[in-house]
Amino acid sequence: MGAELNKNLERMKLLSTAELKTGMYVVAPGIAWQERPYLYMEEGLLSSDAAVGKILEEGYLEVYIDPTRSPIYAEGGPLDAPLAETKEIVAGRGTFRLAPKTLFAAEVKAAAEVHDAAVGYVREFMRDIRFGKLDMGPATELVNKIMHSLDQNADALLSLCRLRRTDGYTYMHCVNVSVLCGMFARAAGMGEKTAHAVSLAGLFHDLGKALVPSEVLNAPRRLNEAERKVMNAHPSLGYEQIRDVPGVIAEVPLGMLHHHERYGGGGYPAGIAGSDISLVGYIVALADIYDALTSKRVYKDGMPPHRALGVMYEMREKELHPEMLVGFIRMLGVYPVGSVVEMSDGSLGVVNAGNVEAPLKPSVVLVRDAENRPLPNIVCDLASPDNALSIECTMSEAETGIDPAAVLKLPGVPPHAGCK
Ligand SMILES: [Fe+2]
Repeated sequence: MGAELNKNLERMKLLSTAELKTGMYVVAPGIAWQERPYLYMEEGLLSSDAAVGKILEEGYLEVYIDPTRSPIYAEGGPLDAPLAETKEIVAGRGTFRLAPKTLFAAEVKAAAEVHDAAVGYVREFMRDIRFGKLDMGPATELVNKIMHSLDQNADALLSLCRLRRTDGYTYMHCVNVSVLCGMFARAAGMGEKTAHAVSLAGLFHDLGKALVPSEVLNAPRRLNEAERKVMNAHPSLGYEQIRDVPGVIAEVPLGMLHHHERYGGGGYPAGIAGSDISLVGYIVALADIYDALTSKRVYKDGMPPHRALGVMYEMREKELHPEMLVGFIRMLGVYPVGSVVEMSDGSLGVVNAGNVEAPLKPSVVLVRDAENRPLPNIVCDLASPDNALSIECTMSEAETGIDPAAVLKLPGVPPHAGCK
């Protein structure tokens, strides 16, 4: 017994409880409690700040953890920008602008390949999880590629996410949420490892939906109370699939678990509020809602970005984390690439490149003149000194009949005049 105990203790790390963090795995070293009354010994993963706080509150002073089972130590160390600091970043340190390193046209092909691969992977894991299998191997490389594409020119992947119309909304949605989460993390100034974890949480956020019976998931009517309960279990179902996977940083399952929790309470599955909700959970919620509002579905048109952000602004405080929401709005800018706009001379166009320095002066492809006659896709840089035009307002695709995906020549969209 003595030798075995010593061997176990070698692998463990003794910490003061003040050093405990979410994502550490507590182990029981096999010592009688009478010998060490202030040693906390309830084995398991600390999945929230509240769990850590409870141990401190109960007066324990020391604890053994097993770093090899602690997601916080995955891949050789804790996160490079602890998410506890994210609040400060959100409160003002993040720029929320991602300056492109390359042109939209130079990145869009690579971005389309990453997008395709990611949609294919989501399709695969949503199917496999029903048979109890989950291969997270490809996820790391895919998320790396997403992050790389965002660093090159975020507008490319972002416009593909919003404007591409392929079948399989659920799969596209998971990829889009992953892209928006990764973009938010980078725009907020998070390090690569943290941004990777946030994007991964977005990719897997609805994993639990694959475990909801299809008659509930695809019910073509309002769900009754019992069915709603089953549906609302999807964050917990997904969380349970991921939380013990070796090497996964604790924030990933937490983001999945909390993506339907709401700032003022009243969300699900636990109905928690404020700081009890993980920051990743808040980021995934923002991305989830924005993508759902802007996506075109069989029963509705997608909202233009500015309108979706307006709806979300009304949800601040009560449902969405107010500072993080402001960061999210700043990240997407006033006129995201793909916005259909009416110009000061009555012509219509599509934003084809943002302007980090002057967000109100993006580059626009003019598609129709004031008399609604087609123009030969003239590119107009509103920041250019000899430009006299400005944007009057944003229009919806339905109002104008202009298809921004075709105007931007997005891969996978048939080329035509840019009008439906
Ligand atoms: Fe969900």
